[in-house]
Amino acid sequence: MFLRNCWYVVAWDHEIPAQGLFARRVIGEPLVLFRASDGSVVALEDRCCHRLAPLSRGRIEDGCLRCGYHGLLFDRAGRCIEVPGMEQVPAGTQVRAYPVRVHHRWVFVWMGEPEQANDAWLPDNHSCDSPDWVYRPGYLHYDVPWQLVCDNLLDFSHLSYVHEKTLGGTPAIARARPAIEAIERGLRIARHVSGVPPPPYYSALREFKGLIDRWLVYDFVLPATLLMDSGGCEQGASPDDPERSVHLHSCQALTPESESSTHYFFQQAHPAHLGDAAMTEGLYQGVVRAFEEDRDMISAQYERVREHGEGAMQSLPMDAALLRFRQLIARECARERTGQETR
Ligand code: FES
Ligand SMILES: [Fe+2]
Repeated sequence: MFLRNCWYVVAWDHEIPAQGLFARRVIGEPLVLFRASDGSVVALEDRCCHRLAPLSRGRIEDGCLRCGYHGLLFDRAGRCIEVPGMEQVPAGTQVRAYPVRVHHRWVFVWMGEPEQANDAWLPDNHSCDSPDWVYRPGYLHYDVPWQLVCDNLLDFSHLSYVHEKTLGGTPAIARARPAIEAIERGLRIARHVSGVPPPPYYSALREFKGLIDRWLVYDFVLPATLLMDSGGCEQGASPDDPERSVHLHSCQALTPESESSTHYFFQQAHPAHLGDAAMTEGLYQGVVRAFEEDRDMISAQYERVREHGEGAMQSLPMDAALLRFRQLIARECARERTGQETR
């Protein structure tokens, strides 16, 4: 039940070393990533075609990868270009290579048909790489299926309860009904609440006097990327008044590692002109604390889901967005299975 013809975030750009090998699993497939001689990122199947040793146990030689077991040498396209002791490399000696893009500091891999790799489907994660925004990059690992984490990000009513002392701070968020709109390859979700206390994590950014109006407006696009404008302003003030408001931009991506584990890449950016390194760090620590709250709850939820199955879940109106996104995933997966054109 994984989409293949899409871009999955496999790493932050800085995670791939200048020299050396980086291993990570995506939709159940082991990948090894490294930098070619020109610095560009290469992704190969992390399984030698000879005796299946992980290529991530090997080493880089002039931008190529030498298997650490019996020394086959592979180029960036996955072709074996040297077998020790042989004059000629037998035809077909190769490992799979995956299309890679580095886009605003996220490293993406295309797990489907290489010729279908579509750059138009890279998400607009501009605040990951912009002079206007500052953040500290984040990563968490989940031992739960990615769909449960998608569900969490598609229903912010949990901010009031899971994140009562961090991102939420008021039951009003759970009571508000978001507007949900279909967009290309995803959903746009907008939730507004007014006359609420500032959420505790805003204290890293600004001391508000009194109650505020808040907005949380985001796109959630295939395979599972959240791109969000959020913020708050003093009640009755203009959201554009820099002295009386807070504006944030967040990019978050979920990548299935396996059927039951998930990579979570995230950042929460504040405007570059606002604050200093201490503010950036305070905001980062605030969201990490909150995302650990999510992970605690979703991990506990997954124990019950394993015992009882998802069929035991009862759907409520607050689930509207997550049910629509699940339908979208199921539809796109079915389309891939039947070989229909996906563009
Ligand atoms: S397993 Fe890689 S060279 Fe033998
Ligand atoms: Fe959350």
